[in-house]
Amino acid sequence: MADDKKTAKLSFGDKELELPMMSPTAGPDVIDIRKLYAQGDVFTYDPGFTSTAATDSSITFIDGDKGELLHRGYPIDQLAEKSHFLEVCYLLLYGELPSATELEDFESRVTNHTMLHEQMVYFYRGFRRDAHPMAIMTGVVGAMSAFYHDSTDINDPWQREVASIRLIAKMPTIAAWAYKFSIGQPFIYPRNDLDYASNFLRMCFAVPAEDYEVNPILSRAMDRIFTLHADHEQNASTSTVRLASSSGANPFACIAAGIACLWGPAHGGANQACLEMLREIGTPDRIPEFIARAKDKDDPFRLMGFGHRVYKNFDPRARVMKQSADEVLDLLGVENNPTLQVAKVLEQAAIDDPYFAERKLYPNVDFYSGIILDAMGFPTSMFTPIFALARTVGWISQWKEMIEDPAMKIGRPRQLYTGAPMRDYVDVENR
Ligand code: SDX
Repeated sequence: MADDKKTAKLSFGDKELELPMMSPTAGPDVIDIRKLYAQGDVFTYDPGFTSTAATDSSITFIDGDKGELLHRGYPIDQLAEKSHFLEVCYLLLYGELPSATELEDFESRVTNHTMLHEQMVYFYRGFRRDAHPMAIMTGVVGAMSAFYHDSTDINDPWQREVASIRLIAKMPTIAAWAYKFSIGQPFIYPRNDLDYASNFLRMCFAVPAEDYEVNPILSRAMDRIFTLHADHEQNASTSTVRLASSSGANPFACIAAGIACLWGPAHGGANQACLEMLREIGTPDRIPEFIARAKDKDDPFRLMGFGHRVYKNFDPRARVMKQSADEVLDLLGVENNPTLQVAKVLEQAAIDDPYFAERKLYPNVDFYSGIILDAMGFPTSMFTPIFALARTVGWISQWKEMIEDPAMKIGRPRQLYTGAPMRDYVDVENR
């Protein structure tokens, strides 16, 4: 990767530095500043990491200008159409599409790890019934460190593998039980004769009092939503998992940190906030009022589900999600869903508005996902837990890539200090 021909020359004060550059498979070149402080006695300054590559990675590539998203080189729209979530999990974890035998073995390993240690049921009872499911998921996933000691040694490849499979396999159970707990219904246990998405839907919506048949339309849509949320390069929650993991903390604690970060409305919490916004708008005639608020610098309101740090074009996941919303609602016979109508009119109004066009603000993955999840019967409080469930494979794949990198170091950013210069202590009687 290091390109010994390319260098960046930097001159400031009495310093003339020549820094090496590296060229990627795709995307911008990088300037290797690892020796900048030692050679130049200066830091770089980039609080939101808008121009900083924090790592090298071969898992996911995003071209924000073209609106492209690749997982191990495969475009997301092809994976969403032709693949399914557990195959995408295999691809993200191991780097290649599996053979039929490899896929069957992987699916069997995941299927046989979906149950939780029965003692973990008591964690749920410690929460109030109105606890947000993300609070429950953060707590229960962190608590997995206390139950699965045989897969917490990050230096043991086999334990890393077991922890990866356990987290992918148990997330649907953990999320479904958080939902059941919040509505006061008994927990439904996973079944080994169901596929991943069908198992999750059944654990959410079945009750012991009657049989439950999974609707194949919903199962396919659920699986596609999982695929669309699986990984997304070095986003905030993935960077949180990487930074937490760089200290050598166990994978369950690090994934719990990622869940906590994802919860924020600027990140994974946007799907819940977006549907609540669409419902507040209610009818297309109120859209101008909300567009005006989104543009008003004195109003903290933003169009939820709109804009992205990297995409300055349509989020390719939003395109697939919009198509899926149309299909699912049509197949469910949810004619003229008012929320979907508001979303489509709002999308066009925003895209036509110079404020959004100048800032290249387009719908992101969270703009349409809530409409499908709402039509499936999920409360808005379950939208971000579903995002966390799907993103677990991305967090784990990125964690695995970092831990297996022999050059891995603990992450320790520096700062631009703006506080008081050194000064002597003043006794209270003299202040
Ligand atoms: C996810 O990083 C990832 O990959 C995340 C994710 C993933 O899969 O992991 O893709 C998932 O988090 C998607 C994003 C979900 N969040 C939202 O939908 C919340 C609404 N969006 C914004 O808060 C915002 O767009 C962010 C947080 C997503 C991105 O913010 P940036 O890159 O820091 O951009 P910014 O805040 O500097 O905005 C640039 C300009 C500003 O105006 P000016 O100061 O230039 O006048 O655009 C404006 C902002 O005010 N702006 C918006 C807006 N988003 C940006 N104005 C109104 N509504 C919005 N949604």
